Parts: sequence; structure tokens; C-alpha cells
Amino acid sequence: MIDVQTAPAQPTVTRREAYSAPEWLVPDIHLDFDLDPAETRVKARLSVKRNGAHTDPLRLDGAGQQPLSVMIDGVAVNDWRLDGETLVIPLSGAAHTIETEVAIAPDRNTQLMGLYASGGNLCTQCEAEGFRRITYFPDRPDVLSRYAVRMTADKARFPVLLANGDPIAQGDADGGKHWAEWNDPYPKPCYLFALVAGDLAVNRGTFTTRSGREVALGIWVRAADLPKTDHALDALKTSMAWDERVYGREYDLDVFNIVAVDDFNFGAMENKGLNIFNSRYILADPDTATDYDYDAIAAVVAHEYFHNWSGNRVTCRDWFQLSLKEGFTVYRDQSFSADQGSAAVKRIEDVRGLRAAQFPEDSGPLAHPVRPESYIEISNFYTATIYNKGAELIRMMATILGPTKFRAATDLYFNRFDGTAATCEDFVACMEEAGDVDLSQFRLWYSQAGTPRVSASLDHRDGGGRATLRLAQHVPPTPGQDVKAPMVLPLKVRLFGAETGKPLTEEQLIQLDSAAETVTFEGIAERPVLSINRGFSAPVVIESDRSAADLAFLSANDDDPFARYEAMQQLMLDTLVAATIEGRADHKAVIEAVSNTIEDPELDWAFVAEAVLLPSESFIGDQLSTVDPDAIFRAREALRRDLGRSLADLWRLAYDQAPKGPYTYSPDAKGKRRLRAVALGYIAASGADDAATLAFRQFEAADNMTDRQAALTTLANGTSDEREAALDIFYNRYATNPLVLDKWFQTQALSSRDDTPAIVAELARHPDFTLANPNRARSLVGAFGVNQRAFNAADGAGYRFLADQLIALDKLNPQTAAKLLPPLGRWRRFDEARAALMRAELDRIVRTPGLSKDLFEQASKSLE
Ligand code: TRP
Ligand code: ZN
Repeated sequence: MIDVQTAPAQPTVTRREAYSAPEWLVPDIHLDFDLDPAETRVKARLSVKRNGAHTDPLRLDGAGQQPLSVMIDGVAVNDWRLDGETLVIPLSGAAHTIETEVAIAPDRNTQLMGLYASGGNLCTQCEAEGFRRITYFPDRPDVLSRYAVRMTADKARFPVLLANGDPIAQGDADGGKHWAEWNDPYPKPCYLFALVAGDLAVNRGTFTTRSGREVALGIWVRAADLPKTDHALDALKTSMAWDERVYGREYDLDVFNIVAVDDFNFGAMENKGLNIFNSRYILADPDTATDYDYDAIAAVVAHEYFHNWSGNRVTCRDWFQLSLKEGFTVYRDQSFSADQGSAAVKRIEDVRGLRAAQFPEDSGPLAHPVRPESYIEISNFYTATIYNKGAELIRMMATILGPTKFRAATDLYFNRFDGTAATCEDFVACMEEAGDVDLSQFRLWYSQAGTPRVSASLDHRDGGGRATLRLAQHVPPTPGQDVKAPMVLPLKVRLFGAETGKPLTEEQLIQLDSAAETVTFEGIAERPVLSINRGFSAPVVIESDRSAADLAFLSANDDDPFARYEAMQQLMLDTLVAATIEGRADHKAVIEAVSNTIEDPELDWAFVAEAVLLPSESFIGDQLSTVDPDAIFRAREALRRDLGRSLADLWRLAYDQAPKGPYTYSPDAKGKRRLRAVALGYIAASGADDAATLAFRQFEAADNMTDRQAALTTLANGTSDEREAALDIFYNRYATNPLVLDKWFQTQALSSRDDTPAIVAELARHPDFTLANPNRARSLVGAFGVNQRAFNAADGAGYRFLADQLIALDKLNPQTAAKLLPPLGRWRRFDEARAALMRAELDRIVRTPGLSKDLFEQASKSLE
């Protein structure tokens, strides 16, 4: 299928089973940087120790540089060689001191890995394999070293010099330069190394740990952004206290710094004592950030902070264990966010995210287990499966153990593996030991890819008082895994009485661990209705034979808020799938259930806003054997219109519940804004004459970005005159704010208008569009790729556009390009004509000369 002649030089595959311990250890490293954007000199002094009895030479990874000099124990030598980019140095003894010097060019570094320039400042990104772009080193996470760092730079241009650990000394040097030294006492893998040199202002705070250590906190940004850092600083303090209270984990250095940069491949990075963040996850004020942004900032600040224990103090033995730190840390940040506001709404958001990103991944060509078996480029494995499905695995173990044993198990894990590089197996073994459970079969969750499907049907024989629940599971085949074994699925279940509306049983945890199983319930006097997978206790798809009436009943009566939401979603989904396939549209049950939810006085605003939202177009598509994007769109719009019209008065009432007074970031105000945005969407969908006027008025009157962006989104989906006006006003008002301009691009790329493909193509030629900045690239190209109807336009224009952008982006930033490819790999889910068009674009990508291994791996696997 792939022509090997034109493919990049056969990329090497790294395999999990090929792991072996490092041949040489590096207990200490001293780094000396002479920093300059055009040419930075890096001197490294490594103390190396032979690990075990062998005669192998020292092998140091490098990428993109040449050694200027090599010394062994203070003596310059010439008997080193380069094996590809690896520096190979023969050594005779058990311990030596190795010194190297290299020159690197941060301002030509467009891939944003290693040392690079962003907004005139210098910063680093080393995870996963960026440290080798800075100096020669065994670039693998199981080599832990104590770092001493010295930096010298022009004092006027780079007044601030930061690195990991604690500041030791600083002073002035000749030629307008200055220097600083930092030491990190905690041994760490090189992927956690960081330095920053720049012209930065700081928002300082302090946190006193429960054992009395006073920690100096600093959030570093360009001076103009200083007023936007209070929310992140608050979130940091809250996270520090939370990790002490909930996991008993304290911070362990005297300083903790965060630096925000505009050019960043991911969300943020947990470098020891010196987190580096994408500025979108730090900067917030009501005028420029939405409630959603505020929530995301707190979650990412917490995530990176929590890595200090789950990732840094206990790190990963090899990159196949990535979910050991990421899955666990996502679980920790999700629990943190749930504790800050509505746990139910947080769970709904997380499950929606899992279904939008991880389920499609798990059913497509890039499906892989939470602990993968092989990779070409590790950066491609920072996926929703490793992060979000990984978090679900931890959550299931927490459910199985219960809170007390789970806490004992995490204590055991942190204590036993502190200061070491561990594996997923180590973590599970701690769960077993402290939880006193057998998780042998549960371990399949780490090795088997694919989303399990569970069929559930409940029988009740009147008079007999016995209800029988028949459960069966099936894990679909995924690439390289044709046949699957049954897994352990912890399903929280409860029965409710159809007549009385009362619960008939307690909540029960059923651990389904065979292909099929029957569970009986006694003393069931009335017809029971099944509430299953409550709280989304297992990341599976439930296929049940529950009627529309039963789902409507649960959406009104279930005591588990997630299950209420879920019942409503299922009801909407059943309705929309039927409408898509058969063109038959019976909206009555949905309209009634939505109406009941809005009018239920016990529900809070935010929950109602979530519950009444229709499933996304792509989630509807996931239920169909062949995705028909236009039919899905039509069916969904028809239901939106019908809901908008039938419940017009209720939407107007909800819309008028705007929070009074100036903006506050409180759960109540957030909930009201969220419901108001949803209501505005339904008012517009109803075709009401005044919808555009209403939206435009909201757009102009708003004192915050949440309301402004909601109004802009509504207008951008429509064809009113106000649309153009609002887009222009928004653009001009925020022309110098890159994070808000990203929203301007993104809102248009996500639009449901018929001409979105043409608008997006036009926007790619806009003077403010650039592929060089990952946020901007994602805001247009990434957003367009998830706009199901626009991206899958029948003429293939969307596919061609994405391929063109990826080929161009690959030359600058292969990691970010590879991340945006997956929408093209979904061809099996579409009709033959679309599939052929998508494959043609994948093929064009694979045949591009000089393609990166990042994009090659994603595109070639997507063709298979
Ligand atoms: N470890 C980071 C996190 O907290 C992820 C990350 C940041 C990353 N930058 C990266 C991963 C660059 C790969 C490449 O999730
Ligand atoms: Zn992380």
C-alpha cells in the first residue's frame, strides 16, 4: 500500500518488550549555557557510572547538533564516533567524567522542542525527547541525575534567568552580560530539565506547606499580561493545599515558578520547580477569557502541579509507561476540579470529552492500548487514550478499592517508588497489595485496545418479584488485536420502580468479568427500570433495550445526576439516529423530557444547560455504520428547531435569568451564563425574528468574554447582517491579543454555515493566520477538522485543505502537524466516495519528500 521508495528512510520502531536497563548511569550533570538566540553554547559535564558488568561504550543521544569537543576525565579525546546522531565514546573504567560542548540555534528552532525562542524570550521543552537537541545525553526517563545549571546571557535582553530547583547565586559578567546558577537537589530524568531566559514580570505569592516549609511562588509573564495572572496563582495555591489534604503530598522545594509562553506544542509542562505553560492556560481576565477558559486554567495548573509527585518524584521507566504519570495525573486533576464546583457537571464534561476524542481513536486506525507495545515517534502517543482512558483506568481501580484502600494504595505507591522510575505494573501491584484485591484480569485494560460494548437487558415477571439482568460484553477488534478476552467492567447499577418512581434496590457494583452473566434481584414488586453504568463507572458503550418512555423516566427520576444526563442523551441519540436513518422524526419524547428538565426546581443551572444539549454531530455519527454528515446535520437541526419552537417560552425565561451585576466567577453565575448561552442557541434555532438582534445586543452589552463569545458563536452560525458586524468588531477590539484572535478563527472554523469550507480556506490566507504558532494552527486547522459536516464536504475540499496545511506545517513543526491528522484517518466510517478522497490525501501526505517520522507514522497507519 505504501510505496517504500518514496517513504522516508525506514523509520525505526521502538518496542516495549525490548526494554533493557541503561548501560551507563549519570548521577550528576553540570550544564553551562552561554545563551544567545542565534547561537547558544552548551557545555555539559557528566559524571557517568557503568551499570552492571559489561564492556559497552557510552552512548549519548543527540539531535541536530555536532560535538565541538569531547573530554574524558579532563583530557580532550578523538576516539569518539557518531552512530547516526548518537555520540559513542569508548570508556575503560567503571566511572568517568565526560565533557562535551555543542552550539545550537534557538531562533531557528521552529519545532519548539529543545531550546527555542518565543516572543523574544528563550525557553525549553524536553519531554519526551527534546533534551537531546540541547546536549548529548542518555535521553531516556530511567536515567536520573542531579542537575547544576549555570546560565550567562545579555542582561538587558534577558534580565530574568530561571532553571529547575533552587537559585544558588547570580552576578554580573563582562560585555553587558549576567549569570545565574540553579541547583535541583532531586534526581530527575532529563525530560524534566528546563530553563527560561527573558524579559518577564512576576506575580509572586507564598504557600506554607503543612510541615511548615514556606514556598515562594512566581508566575512569570510579559509585563502587560501581569493583571491576568491572579486566577492561575489562586489555582496553584488551591492545588497545593488539595494535594496535601487528599493525597498527603507536600511540595518539596523552596521555590515554584511558572512561565507562560505563546508558542507551545501542548498545554503545559511539569518541569521540576519550573513549569512552562502555553499562555492560554495562564492568562485570564473577564474581558478576554471565558468561564470555560477559567476552568481549564485551574485544571491545567493543578495537573502540572500534581505531576510533582505523579511524574517527577515517581517517574516513568520508559515511554510505554506514559499513562503511569498521565492517566493518574488526569484522574487527580479531574477529582480536584470536581471538588471545586459541581462534581456532576465535571463528570459530564469529562465523559463528553472522552466520547469526542478517545472513543473515535479507540475505534479507528490509530487505536492503541493504554500501555502501547510499539511506536515510531513517541510524541504521537500523547493521546486521549494515554491521558483520558488512562484516567478512567485509575478511576475504576479507585471504585473497586473504595476511598480508604485507594488512598492506602497511592501512599504505598508514592513511598515505595519515590525517587525511582516505575511502571504501570508497579502501580497496579500497589493497588492489589493495599487494596487486598486480585487485579490480574483487570490488567487487560492496559494491554487491550478498543472500547468494550455491553449489552444489558432487564426481565421482570409480574408477581414473581424477581428481576433478571442479562449482561454480555464484547471488545471490538483493533489494529494488531483481532481477538479479545473478556475484561473486568465495574458497573454501578440500580433499579427504580416504573409506577412509584422510587428506588427498588440500593446501588450495586457489578463487576462483569465474563463474556455473559446474569444477575438476579429479588423482591421487585413493580416493573423495574434499569439505571446502569451510573457515574460512568466503566468507560464502555452500553447497549440496552430501554424504551423512550423508560429513558424519559430516568431523566426525570434517577438519583444519580450523571445517569439522569445519560438517559436524556440516550433518548436524544435514539431519536436522532432514527431520524438520520429513516428520515422518521418523532420529537415528542425528547421535547417533553427537555421541558421537564428545564422546569425541575431541584436542578442547578449548569446541570440543566448540559442536560438539554443535543449530542454532537460526530457522536451521532459514531452510532451509525456509515456516517452521512449531511443527513446527521439535517436531523439534528430539525430537532433543534422543533425544541426551539415548542419550548420557546421556557428558553426566553432561561435566557432572562442572566446573572445580575458585574462579572463574577462563581458557580451560580457560571451556571446562569451557560444556560443562557444554550437558550440563545435554541432561540436562534427556532428561527425567531429577533434572534440576531438579541444575540447582537448580548454581544455589545457583554462585560465578559463568556457572554460575548456565546453571542458571536450564535451569530457566526447564521446569515444575518449582524454576523459580519460582530466579527469585525470582535476582530478590531482584540487585534493585538493572540489568544482572543484564536477564538475569532476557531468560532468561524466551527460554524454550521453551508459555506464554512470556503470561509476557512479564506481565513488561511488572512494576515493574522500563521502555521508557526501552534495555538493559531489548531484554532483554524484543528477546529475545522472536527467540524464534521464542513470537513467532510462531498467534493473533498475539506480533505484537500487539511492535507495542504499538514504538509506545510510538517516542515515547521512535525509534532503539531501529526496531532492534527486523525480526522483524515476516519475514512472507513464514511461512504466509498468520501473514503477514496480521504485516502488520496493520506497517500499524497505519505509520498511527500522529506516527511517527518511524526507525520509519516500517523498517515501511514491511517491508510492501513
Ligand atoms: N507532560 C505534559 C503534560 O502535562 C505534556 C507535554 C507538554 C508534552 N509538552 C509536551 C508532551 C511536548 C510531548 C511533547 O501533559
Ligand atoms: Zn501531564
